[in-house]
Amino acid sequence: GFSWKLADHPKLPKGKLVAMVVLDGWGEASPDKYNCIHVAETPTMDSLKNGAPEKWRLVRAHGTAVGLPTEDDMGNSEVGHNALGAGRIFAQGAKLVDLALASGKIFEDEGFNYIKECFANNTLHLIGLMSDGGVHSRLDQLQLLLRGASERGAKKIRVHVLTDGRDVLDGSSVGFAETLEAELSDLRSKGIDAQVASGGGRMYVTMDRYENDWEVVKRGWDAQVLGEAPHKFKNVVEAVNKLREVPGANDQYLPPFVIADESGKPVGPIVDGDAVVTFNFRADRMTMLAQALEYEKFDKFDRVRVPKIRYAGMLQYDGELKLPNHYLVSPPLIERTSGEYLVHNGVRTFACSETVKFGHVTFFWNGNRSGYFNLELEEYVEIPSDSGITFNEQPKMKALEIGEKTRDAILSGKFDQVRVNIPNGDMVGHTGDVEATVVACKAADEAVKMILDAVEQVGGIYVVTADHGNAEDMVKRNKKGEPILKDGKVQILTSHTLQPVPIAIGGPGLIAGAGFRKDVPSGGLANVAATVMNLHGFVAPDDYETTLIEVVD
Ligand code: 3PG
Ligand code: CO
Repeated sequence: GFSWKLADHPKLPKGKLVAMVVLDGWGEASPDKYNCIHVAETPTMDSLKNGAPEKWRLVRAHGTAVGLPTEDDMGNSEVGHNALGAGRIFAQGAKLVDLALASGKIFEDEGFNYIKECFANNTLHLIGLMSDGGVHSRLDQLQLLLRGASERGAKKIRVHVLTDGRDVLDGSSVGFAETLEAELSDLRSKGIDAQVASGGGRMYVTMDRYENDWEVVKRGWDAQVLGEAPHKFKNVVEAVNKLREVPGANDQYLPPFVIADESGKPVGPIVDGDAVVTFNFRADRMTMLAQALEYEKFDKFDRVRVPKIRYAGMLQYDGELKLPNHYLVSPPLIERTSGEYLVHNGVRTFACSETVKFGHVTFFWNGNRSGYFNLELEEYVEIPSDSGITFNEQPKMKALEIGEKTRDAILSGKFDQVRVNIPNGDMVGHTGDVEATVVACKAADEAVKMILDAVEQVGGIYVVTADHGNAEDMVKRNKKGEPILKDGKVQILTSHTLQPVPIAIGGPGLIAGAGFRKDVPSGGLANVAATVMNLHGFVAPDDYETTLIEVVD
């Protein structure tokens, strides 16, 4: 029968403190002035790279190695932390939605049948990120959903868009708006009343995460549900173009707007009887809106009017909370994660990050599961992030505080594993501010040093890696790797990358002879869990991706 008990590792001892450090958005790329990690002073990470060759290597962090549809898909924090924590590669949301759309199964399952009930007499609303980034959503999936729903009886459809510029180039929202508008116009020519109803930039409207700032969700609610926003336009293409003319405007932070008819009336507030689908497949930035749409009891902001709707998520975003109750595609079933195994084997675990990445080392790490496995053995510490700023204004973020809390946890002797995410490279990298990202990388390196110093003091072991690339390349390049010029200027890359990430092991607790094997050259993030289990003195379960380490006598 099944057992949580892990076998003893034949050579590696138990009882050593293991520090599992994840630098967010920290890939490996050639030295270059747009490689902020290279430009920044990063003595700690440099010393790991330049140390013993069997203690440092690269691992894959994008594409099929993390369960994404193709090798052109950049890595992201959800799939990266899922892989790190679960030790196996699961087909992720992006791919599951592709498959369900291709087979048509999405239109046969419970979720779609549930919302379909509204099609005869009411409006279908689709809310989500208008992007082809493939991190939270994809425009081609929205297009297929629009077509499929209209072929199955939806007569009135309203789309509520969030502009991206974070997983894709800033300014690309204009092209996406045109593509979407053409799709809707095609539906209109077939007699379907289909329009965009509202919008706003993803970082200012709706897509907050981990409850950092409910105001963001409220701004979206006002536009999407109440039909109220500071700006009104005739259509989404006009909206995006006009709002981008404001100096300093960018896709990520466009203010909320509604589309209004000739008489100035918003075309698509959400009312009783309507159906709503949030079409993002990724969870973290949809769960707050999902709560506002679904929960009867809700006190995070004044919803003013709470329409009685049929609501479905593209996926179920939180399996533990069953949020939302209805969904179009079943999420990957990520069970028996390394965190759960280790806790069952007595490993006392501490996890920490600041708010904007807190769920990454808890929720995503544990297979999109909220809460603890065992309250007695685990402690998760969230350091409040600054809110209402863009992180290039505070590129050091809370790296120091994360370092201190983690150091204290290590020195306390109360834990066998400390797991931490250091967000700077990613969060500041996403702003596209190259100078600030250099400061961010330095701060991240300093936090790593604090943690490694504490590991040294207690005779522990460290594993330092990253979830995907970002700060190591801040410019859009051609196939030859040269920056692409547009109007004589380079195009700043705010998104993640396809680069591999480093992984380093070491510390006084690592026994002599332990190091990376040579026979897993294409190893990826999913190989890390078995590696960490080994460092705790256990052999990983058979179905886990193989360990990256060996012990030579
Ligand atoms: C975001 O949500 O901030 C970006 O789309 C992806 O970043 P992350 O995967 O690093 O969280
Ligand atoms: Co990111």
